Amino acid sequence: MTETLAITPGQDREDTYRQLLPQLLAMIEAERDRVATLANLSAALRQAFGFHWVGFYLVQGNELVLGPFQGPVACTRIAHGKGVCGTAWSTNTTLIVPDVEAFPGHIACSAQTKSEIVVPIHDEQGDVWAVLDVDSSNKDDFSDVDRDALEQLAAWLIR
Ligand code: SME
Repeated sequence: MTETLAITPGQDREDTYRQLLPQLLAMIEAERDRVATLANLSAALRQAFGFHWVGFYLVQGNELVLGPFQGPVACTRIAHGKGVCGTAWSTNTTLIVPDVEAFPGHIACSAQTKSEIVVPIHDEQGDVWAVLDVDSSNKDDFSDVDRDALEQLAAWLIR
C-alpha cells in the first residue's frame, strides 16, 4: 500500500467513494494493528471529502471511548444510548442526522458540526465494538450514498 490517496478532484461524492473504497480496503488488508488502520481510515475520509470531523468511538464496558480520529479535539466518553453515537450503538443502526440541533440529546463536541452520520461496526456475533462518526459543518450533508459506502467500510471491519 502506498501512503498517499489517489482521488480525482471535482468528482461527485458517489464517484469519490467509488475511487476511495478500494483504497480503504487495501489499508485494512495491509495492516493488522487496529489503531493504525482506524487512524488512517479517519484521515482518508477527512482528506477525501473535507469533513469537519471523522473518527471512531470504541465500546469499553457501558460507554464509548474516543478512538482514532481526525479533526478538532472531541469528547472522550459517551454513555450507551446517549447522543447520536450512543443511540447508533444502542439501536444498532446507522443514524443520519440532517440537523444536529433537532436531535434530542445531541452531544455538541463542536459548535461547527451541523449534520452527522454514525455507523455501527460489528463483531462476528453482530455486537457493536465501535462506531464511525462523521461530522459535517454543512446541514443535511449525508444521504444514502454515504450510508451505503460507510456501511461497506464497516463490513470490512467486522472482527
Ligand atoms: N455528536 C456526537 C458526539 C461525538 S462528536 O461530535 C465528535 C454525538 O452526539 O454522539
